Amino acid sequence: MKPFLLCVIAILIITSCASETTPSTEGMEPIKLNSPDLTRGKLLMQALKERKSTRSFSSKELNLDILSNILWAAHGINRPDGRRTSPTAVNWQEIEIYLAMEKGLYVYKPQEHLLAPVMAKDIREFTGVQDFTKDAPLNLIYVADFSKMETKRDDQLFYSATDTAFISQNVYLFCASEGLATVILGWVEKNKLARIMNLKKHQKVILTQPVGFPR
Ligand SMILES: Cc1cc2nc3c(=O)[nH]c(=O)nc-3n(C[C@H](O)[C@H](O)[C@H](O)COP(=O)(O)O)c2cc1C
Repeated sequence: MKPFLLCVIAILIITSCASETTPSTEGMEPIKLNSPDLTRGKLLMQALKERKSTRSFSSKELNLDILSNILWAAHGINRPDGRRTSPTAVNWQEIEIYLAMEKGLYVYKPQEHLLAPVMAKDIREFTGVQDFTKDAPLNLIYVADFSKMETKRDDQLFYSATDTAFISQNVYLFCASEGLATVILGWVEKNKLARIMNLKKHQKVILTQPVGFPR
């Protein structure tokens, strides 16, 4: 093959790889979250009584106040040493919460209490196999960062699942307290979703959780 042709092929391969690894965040800005409102919500026992899975969502948007409080309740920082509202094995803090919304994909940054843009694309339909995932205005995607867990693979899988469950239950309770709809989802094409999200090898989708107003 001619050197010129080889060069053209090489350039095409490099540009196509680069576009795969750097998803566009054009038009997206970081979303600064409000401080948690520690006075809001029902009594814990009442929220426990009302906790349930709901699979029917209105497309009505969640406002910034609700988003801010959900994320803090889920896995926000609640102590000066950086520990969280939900426990994590060995305090690895390996679970990252991604947010799939109509305006794009974001990731929760608890230290700054903000949402950082990841991808200017609505990927809600890929966050679960059931139809309602595309209706919910917010889909939380729990992603484990195995590079933070110095242990064997079996333990990485086990503890990232348990740690996700604690976060999810906080979201369930917040939703019960606010009259919001939610359901935790394991029925997810996780590898496909990870590819769409452009996750790295050491990141794994554990579960997803749509949230919205009940329909
Ligand atoms: C790990 C896990 C995975 C789940 N995956 C799904 C799912 O993919 N789709 C779904 O509709 N519900 C899913 N659920 C919700 C359960 O079906 C639900 O919790 C159960 O039916 C009990 O209902 P309740 O949550 O209202 O008490 C899951 C629950 C757990 C704990």
